[in-house]
Amino acid sequence: MRKKIIAGNWKMNKTLEEGMGLVSELSNMLKDEYQGSAEVVIIPPFVHLNAVSKLIADNPRLASGAQNCSNHKSGAYTGEVSAGMIGSVGCKYVIIGHSERRQYFGEHNAWLAQKIDAVLTAGLNPIYCCGETLEERENNSHFEVLEKQISEGLFHLNDDQIKQVVVAYEPVWAIGTGKTASTAQAQEIHAFIRGLISKKYNEALAQEITIQYGGSVKAENAAELFAAPDIDGALVGGAALQSRSFVDIVKAMA
Ligand code: 13P
Repeated sequence: MRKKIIAGNWKMNKTLEEGMGLVSELSNMLKDEYQGSAEVVIIPPFVHLNAVSKLIADNPRLASGAQNCSNHKSGAYTGEVSAGMIGSVGCKYVIIGHSERRQYFGEHNAWLAQKIDAVLTAGLNPIYCCGETLEERENNSHFEVLEKQISEGLFHLNDDQIKQVVVAYEPVWAIGTGKTASTAQAQEIHAFIRGLISKKYNEALAQEITIQYGGSVKAENAAELFAAPDIDGALVGGAALQSRSFVDIVKAMA
């Protein structure tokens, strides 16, 4: 069975003290309330990664991840953080190509392909984000946009490498807007992405890839989304900033 992953992307929120408080609460609540097998990933800002990773080190259900990394291994790149550094503090995942990175920081597919390579070389798992804007959906170019993001970002990888990748479908129009894609809309795109991977690699491999949905996921809509056959978890923004709402989303994963 495919691995189910619920990840909380804190974006640029929480001081260290607030973040550590949230992780302690999450850890305790999950211990008491969740017996399922989904992996729960905490993705705080870089400066908190070392402390968060240490705090969850003895909880096998929890993992940590970073929100971005450099495409370079090391060197004179002021302000950047390498995948190797992220791995050295105990992280397992790195988000690559979040729409906010694409939109505000000019990250494009060719650059993201290099970042994917950097993450894999460091022995970590990329969470590769893709998703169309409202305009692209309205002019019906979303399938084309997604195919370009997936093929240009990932299809240089070999079979063993692509198996390390988690894909996150995050329609830009659903991020932080309170407007979730309907389960039918999300399922359609997840099946489309799995189909692209099947065509490029093979069906058995495509069936192994975890594809998360992201965009205004809440406890109220999570169970229905998770019941869809190709939705293997969620990448949660706003609702991951509070323990109660995030734990309720995790619990929606049967
Ligand atoms: P929201 O859940 O706040 O819509 O954010 C989704 C997201 O961008 C997660 O990476």
